[in-house]
Parts: sequence; C-alpha cells; structure tokens
Amino acid sequence: MEVVEEKGKVCVTGAGGYVGSWLVKLLLSNGYKVHGTVRDLSDEKNAHLRKFEKASENLQLFKADVLHYDTLKAAFAGCEGVFHVASPVPATKVLDPELELITPAVNGTLNVLQACLEMKIKRVIVVSSIAAVLLNPHWPFDKLKDEKCWSSEEFCRKIENWYCLSKTMAEHAAWEYAEKNGLDLVTVCPSVVLGPLLQPTASASSLFLIYATKGGPEPMLDYLWHFVDVRDVADALLLVYEKPESSGRYICAASPITIRELVDLLKGMYPNYGYQKNIVDVPPSAPLTSEKLKKLGWKWRPLEETLTDAVECYREAGLLDELEGHTLHLPPLFKVT
Ligand SMILES: NC(=O)c1ccc[n+]([C@@H]2O[C@H](COP(=O)([O-])OP(=O)(O)OC[C@H]3O[C@@H](n4cnc5c(N)ncnc54)[C@H](OP(=O)(O)O)[C@@H]3O)[C@@H](O)[C@H]2O)c1
Repeated sequence: MEVVEEKGKVCVTGAGGYVGSWLVKLLLSNGYKVHGTVRDLSDEKNAHLRKFEKASENLQLFKADVLHYDTLKAAFAGCEGVFHVASPVPATKVLDPELELITPAVNGTLNVLQACLEMKIKRVIVVSSIAAVLLNPHWPFDKLKDEKCWSSEEFCRKIENWYCLSKTMAEHAAWEYAEKNGLDLVTVCPSVVLGPLLQPTASASSLFLIYATKGGPEPMLDYLWHFVDVRDVADALLLVYEKPESSGRYICAASPITIRELVDLLKGMYPNYGYQKNIVDVPPSAPLTSEKLKKLGWKWRPLEETLTDAVECYREAGLLDELEGHTLHLPPLFKVT
C-alpha cells in the first residue's frame, strides 16, 4: 500500500470550479488537509468535492466570496498556504465589465492577499492567465513570449477584451501588494485549459473545445493557440507551491496548435462530429514558452491524451449531443481580435 506523507493545511479559493476541483483532488491525494471556498455550500454544483478520496477526513468547505474579506479570513485560519484560483471566467457576453469581471478579479485578489498577510500565510499561489501575457502589441512577432511579456492594459481596453484586462490588472495588483508587504507570492499563467471535468457543468474553456468539435455560427480564428491539460495545471500549481526555489511568474502552456490543426486532429480521432468549418486566417504571432516551469520540473501530457479524456467526458455528460432548436455559441472570451 502506498503511504502518503501527511502535509500541512492549505486553502483553495474557487474550489468548485474547473481548475479548483482538480487542484483540491490533487492536494487531497498528496496528503494535504484542504480548506476549499465556495460561494454556495448547498449548491449541487459543488457536491462532487465531497466525493473525492479522503474528502471526508481532510476537506473542509467554507462559504466565502472574494469580495467579502471576513469570509476569506475564516477560510484561511490555520493554513500555511493559499491557492487563489477564484476569478470570473465568463462563458457569455459581459454586460458590465467593471462589476462582473474587474472588481472581483482585482479587489478579490487584493482581499485574498490582505487576508493572507493577516492570517500569516507562508506562501500564496495566484492563478493568473496567459490573458495577462499575450496581448502585447509591442512584443516582436518572432520572439518567444516568456514571463517578461505582459498584456498591455491600454490595448486590452482598446479592443474591449475585458477578461484579459481583468487578469492583467489582477496580476499587476498582486505583485505590487506582495512586494510592498513582503508576501511570498508566486503566480502561474495557464494557457487555455482543457481536459476532463470533475464538476457537473462545462467551464468556459471546455465550451471552446465543445464548440470546435460540434461547430457553430461564429468563426474561429486560426491563431496558434496553446492548450494545457487541467491535471497538468494542478500539478504546476502544486509544484510551484512545494519548490522553495520557485519565484515570480510561470507560464504554464503545453501544446501550441492552430485551430485547423486541432480540428483535423479531432476528426482523425472522432470522425462523427460536425466540427467547425468557418475558420479565419490571422497574422502569425509569437508562441509562448514554458521553459521556466519546465526547468522547475513540470511535465505535461500529450495533447491527444487531453483531447481523448475531454471528449469522452463530454460524451458521457451529453455535452456533445445535438439539441433541437439550440445553437451553440463560442464564448466571447475566445473571439480574440
Ligand atoms: N480555464 C482556462 O482556460 C483558464 C486559463 C488560464 C487561467 N484560468 C484561471 O483559472 C482560474 C479558474 O478558472 P476555471 O477555468 O476553473 O473557471 P471556473 O470553473 O468558472 O471557476 C471559477 C471559480 O471562481 C469562482 N468565483 C468567481 N467569482 C467569485 C467571487 N466573487 N467569489 C468567490 N469565488 C468566485 C467561481 O465560483 P462560483 O462557482 O461560485 O461561481 C468558480 O469556482 C481563474 O482564475 C481563471 O482566470 C483559467
């Protein structure tokens, strides 16, 4: 029998979400005692968390909103580390960017960091995104985008990409706060996260793959997209938490592939879906590099494994069924200009 070493107590904000759920599962299986925050303890969408192995002994759920400071303090009590995962990832059009995205991302992150400082948390891992890296019009198109590359807030506003703006502002605010207050912070910037779901509903990034597989009315842009398996993101978050030498930002992006290549790959694996036909050419852009994370020891799955596990999971959940009278839409977040 495998003996798992008992570890300290850590908290995961947004425990019931796509990334949060896989992280909680991984932490439990690695011997951690986990505090997980959810906004509604009685909501069925969080019920899967209590079914994880070791959840009955080692998982405690807390009702917390990142905009309600005291709820965070209660969840962080007794913890050594905090993984701040919670941040809105909209699957539909954003009507009020300030209220729906920017305030929860920025003020939420600052509340989390302040509560970490007050509760004497030793290390904080903030989940940022390549949304805070990619939108930099000044970066040379033939130079790999590494951790020095930051999305331009001005550019995000100009093209009204509110999700990218919210993640860029939140990560900047996190670094400013941590440096000013001497907090041990590491940020991880995952690319588009795919792979099987643990929660009952499809996340926004899963809808991207479902849309490419089923096809829909909005064109998809033939960028060089970077995908990463949700299980590899959880591994990366634990890796940066556990490695004392980790510091700064880490891009967490595995497989670069264009949409046309992705659709062709999927067609070869599952020939019976409709697939997106309207794919539009775009100018070339510089790929991302995760060299810094790889040097720390990060490993990732081949894209084929991620796609197989994702499609099988969607199939079982009925997410690839054709529903009469229902048109699938591409989450606006992915209509990058
Ligand atoms: N999926 C991707 O492709 C991707 C890529 C890069 C980075 N990320 C980042 O990864 C993190 C998780 O994303 P995800 O894909 O797992 O999305 P998700 O499934 O939608 O999870 C988002 C989580 O944030 C929580 N949340 C939102 N607003 C909150 C608030 N005011 N207070 C407390 N919790 C709040 C949600 O709780 P409720 O369930 O209560 O709404 C949910 O648990 C985010 O920070 C996102 O920016 C995701």
